[in-house]
Amino acid sequence: MSHSPHRSHWNNRWTFMLATAGSAIGLGNIWKLPYMIGVNGGSAFVLVFVACIFLVGIPLMMTEILLGRRAQKNPLDGMQALAIEAKRSTAWKYLGGMGMLTGLLILSFYSVIGGWVLAYIIEAARGSFSQITAAQSTANFDTLLASPLQLLAWHTVFMFMTMSVVAHGVNSGLEKANNILIPSLFAILLILLGYSMSVGDMHAAFQFMFKPDFSKITPVAVLSALGHAFFSLSLGMGAVMVYGSYLQRNVSIARTTIYIALADTLLGLLVGLAIYSLVFANHLAPNAGPGLIFQTLPIAFGHMPAGGFIGMLFFILVAFAAWTSSISLVEPAIAWIVENTKIKRHTAAWAIGLAVWLLGIAVVLSFNEWKAIKIIFGLNIFETLDKLTSTILLPLGGLLMAIFAGYFMNKNHVQEELDLNDQHFKFWHFTNNYIAPIAIGAVFLYLFGLIK
Ligand code: PHE
Repeated sequence: MSHSPHRSHWNNRWTFMLATAGSAIGLGNIWKLPYMIGVNGGSAFVLVFVACIFLVGIPLMMTEILLGRRAQKNPLDGMQALAIEAKRSTAWKYLGGMGMLTGLLILSFYSVIGGWVLAYIIEAARGSFSQITAAQSTANFDTLLASPLQLLAWHTVFMFMTMSVVAHGVNSGLEKANNILIPSLFAILLILLGYSMSVGDMHAAFQFMFKPDFSKITPVAVLSALGHAFFSLSLGMGAVMVYGSYLQRNVSIARTTIYIALADTLLGLLVGLAIYSLVFANHLAPNAGPGLIFQTLPIAFGHMPAGGFIGMLFFILVAFAAWTSSISLVEPAIAWIVENTKIKRHTAAWAIGLAVWLLGIAVVLSFNEWKAIKIIFGLNIFETLDKLTSTILLPLGGLLMAIFAGYFMNKNHVQEELDLNDQHFKFWHFTNNYIAPIAIGAVFLYLFGLIK
């Protein structure tokens, strides 16, 4: 077949879009964002979160993609190669190493929550949601959490799903499935939203999520919103960097980034609206925490026509979304091992999988037997891993990437990768070099008690 430059360009761009969107869209949007909104005071959090996506997330996603496309390697070797090209210290490679580790720490709890989603596919299929009341739904969820064996079994299944894809290196196959899965997820969300609108209290949900109330913007809400912007866009740990190396030179990094960030944010906010209109109509607590979607959505599925089927489909799609994200959490570490040692891909995958699975057991227990065990600042094991990764490691990774690209790399190289017109480049440069570092820096200073 003759080569058509146009076609191969499109293919590459599409592969990249799907892989990166697959990484970004996951439990962060469907499970985490909705409950974080509730825990952090509603609209205040939404406002700061959206600001963080636009002012920090989008520019830094461009930064991470440009680093990946320039380096064409796993994050650790990639950062080293970029540092050598820029005639800087090769210690920058540790930034890549930190990212790989962060991914594995995240996976240890991501897989446990992914397991909850799998459990709920079965619940929906068994008809457990039918005519369910709010109290019953909460009780069902509590029963699941109280059973370490069930949680462990589902965590094991989820880890197995993740590692078997990674072991075979067939990520692209699964990512192609995103082609259908992400639009389907949007479609089913619209059904859910329509239903919530008709029976729930959409007005209260809207007020709660969007009516600006600046008095509620607390430092903790800002901290969580910034951390979640990183988590939601998969930034700061090298996943996007690895996928950036798929990208051909002549594809616009900026446009692709904006599409992904918009889809990612919109999806999360839509889930939030669907959930909160049910929360308010059923007098549930908006600040229920990590169980929120599992407690509220069954009420909707339990009362709508064909709800058992739609509910099952919904949780299947969420499971797929989580699956394509979990792969990206572990891929940087596997790529590094395979490219640097004689260890075979599948051996590396199962060994890393085992380690993460073991850590996941501690997470499972932190929802029941070890609930009272606090690691630091009164946080249990799950909460510690979550906060450590989202509010410290990911923003720190992002900060260092921004500094590297903005202050250490040759500006011409950066410009070559981004390929923006002057005005757009200036905008990227300003957000990358000033806004993002100052925002992240301020959050860290607050976190360490240096500013109040
Ligand atoms: N962005 C993913 C989600 O929202 C989670 C993730 C975080 C994936 C960091 C990769 C890296 O579910």
